Amino acid sequence: MREYHIAGRLAPVIFKDTVDSTNTALKELARAGAMSGTVLIARRQTGGRGRLGRSFESPPEGLYLSMLRKTVCPPERTLTTTPMAAVAVCRTAEAVCGLSPEIKWPNDVLLGAKKLCGILTELSVQSGEATLVLGIGVNVNTPEESFSPALRDTACSIYGQTGCKTDMAAFARRLIAELDELFSLWEADSRAFLAEYRRRCSTPGQDILILQNEKSRPARAVGINEDMSLQIIGENGAEALRFGEISIRPAPVKDF
Ligand code: BTN
Repeated sequence: MREYHIAGRLAPVIFKDTVDSTNTALKELARAGAMSGTVLIARRQTGGRGRLGRSFESPPEGLYLSMLRKTVCPPERTLTTTPMAAVAVCRTAEAVCGLSPEIKWPNDVLLGAKKLCGILTELSVQSGEATLVLGIGVNVNTPEESFSPALRDTACSIYGQTGCKTDMAAFARRLIAELDELFSLWEADSRAFLAEYRRRCSTPGQDILILQNEKSRPARAVGINEDMSLQIIGENGAEALRFGEISIRPAPVKDF
């Protein structure tokens, strides 16, 4: 384990070679008293965790990073921290790699319609203080052949899409700086980055399938609401989707 300090930043950045999951390991550090802002980065994850209890493939040369935040913000506001992390990843990929990723609601970051990054926020609340662990996995220099066959059609990496290797340390430093800035804005006003999220989210305007309780239903995504829920029009009319999973339905092929 190595510990780094970024000039002007109080909390440390801890680097470990291998952990089961950076989120799990950081939650242990939080219980042992780690300060708000502490970041944990691992070169390898043996048990990376994804949303909805799924596992998260973590092949070598990806960035696996978790950030701890202790905050007195009301728990319902913490729903917007995952979209906030997606904005931070987009800003970083733009600044460090010159790319323009898009967000698929609520928080997948896509490059060319394939998933570049997954985000998992975990929250516990005790005596009015929320402890947030924000986990981000970005396929930075990952060779796309190292994804399992099940993922190859849907996942991508910066290296696979550009043919260029990225300076991982520069990418991680920039991502931490963007997260620090967005967290401070968010603590003052949880909608501070709403306009930017709306601009970066490519889901409105698309036909989608809403996946809920092992069933799927078609709808059209029409906008992002102020609470960052997805406004849809489905079989039962207009509805705001607060959480859940969607897939994008491909546009029908037109014959001329
Ligand atoms: C998802 O897309 O389902 C979310 C994936 C989140 C993966 C990241 S990798 C770093 C952190 N540690 C984990 O175990 N999960 C998150």
